[in-house]
Amino acid sequence: MNSELFDKLRFAYNQNDPSNNPNLSLYEKVGAVTSALLTTPDSQGPKMDDATFKKFRDLIYQQCGIAFTENKKYLLEGRIGKRLEAHGLATFDEYYKLISSSAQQRDELPSLFEAVTINETYFFRNPPQFEALEQVIIPEIMNTKQSQPTKKLRIWSAASSSGEEAYTIAMLLLDKIKPQFPGFQFEVFASDISAAVLEKARTGVYKEYSVRNMPAYYLNKYFTRDGDKFVLSSEIRNMVKFLSVNLYETPTMRTMTNFDVIFCCNVLIYFDTLAKQQVVANLYDSLNKNGYLFIGYSESLHGVSKAFKLVHFPKTIAYKKE
Ligand SMILES: C[S@@+](CC[C@H](N)C(=O)[O-])C[C@H]1O[C@@H](n2cnc3c(N)ncnc32)[C@H](O)[C@@H]1O
Repeated sequence: MNSELFDKLRFAYNQNDPSNNPNLSLYEKVGAVTSALLTTPDSQGPKMDDATFKKFRDLIYQQCGIAFTENKKYLLEGRIGKRLEAHGLATFDEYYKLISSSAQQRDELPSLFEAVTINETYFFRNPPQFEALEQVIIPEIMNTKQSQPTKKLRIWSAASSSGEEAYTIAMLLLDKIKPQFPGFQFEVFASDISAAVLEKARTGVYKEYSVRNMPAYYLNKYFTRDGDKFVLSSEIRNMVKFLSVNLYETPTMRTMTNFDVIFCCNVLIYFDTLAKQQVVANLYDSLNKNGYLFIGYSESLHGVSKAFKLVHFPKTIAYKKE
């Protein structure tokens, strides 16, 4: 390896990116490092000065709660650079003017969010969570619901990205839970801030990367092969309702209510403590009493919320609203 490439790799690795996280898989680290590599300071294209970086950083934080620290300037430069190209603009200042104008902001903000977010996900990402859901949490919730007039279970995959988590839940419900509880209605909602990932989710077509962790049983039962693609059955696709929800936007969050279980995994990591507190408080309100919240393997509510009871399951934890 030549020294220039080594320096770039080291720089990419040291950017305090999630790729530094020891709990991420090799695939995730390679993805994050590659993405960071593409945005190292020597990358071609316009440069972002410190003042402009601060303006973008504040705008992104105010709009979606994602916190970019000073050492992420090159990451932001590379990602937002793509939006400059799309608009044929020469400088970041011109793009900032465009996105600050109220006339253009509504149309352009979703593309800015897409440029700056990480959409990494796959089926059965954290198996112990799904085991706890199937074997303990759902039976417990159903038990209390048996005596209630509404025979309905509602699960929400918040920050769903391209749908793998929500469809994993739908497969478990159809295969393992529904047969035990005839007469019950099951609703799965999935939401994200990015319109592009939601569009991909609705198609239900995936590459090998997404299904690599999936037990062969589910792959054979609910997917068909089309060349190098894996096409999800319409039976599962029709079980999930996809919505656009910005977790950092309280008025929208207030419309998301009466959930029994919420998965909000691998997104809190991008927020600062204040934004996490706001998002988690809203998720708490979205849950029914006795409902559960799952967050990512490497995430924690320490210093974020004391409202939940921490519940331990084999190799995983969940937060219960009592
Ligand atoms: C790394 S993916 C996580 C996907 C899935 N939950 C999982 O764990 O596999 C993070 C997702 O969060 C979304 N996201 C980031 N900020 C958001 C916000 N403020 N509101 C809603 N979604 C957001 C991104 O668009 C991205 O799709």
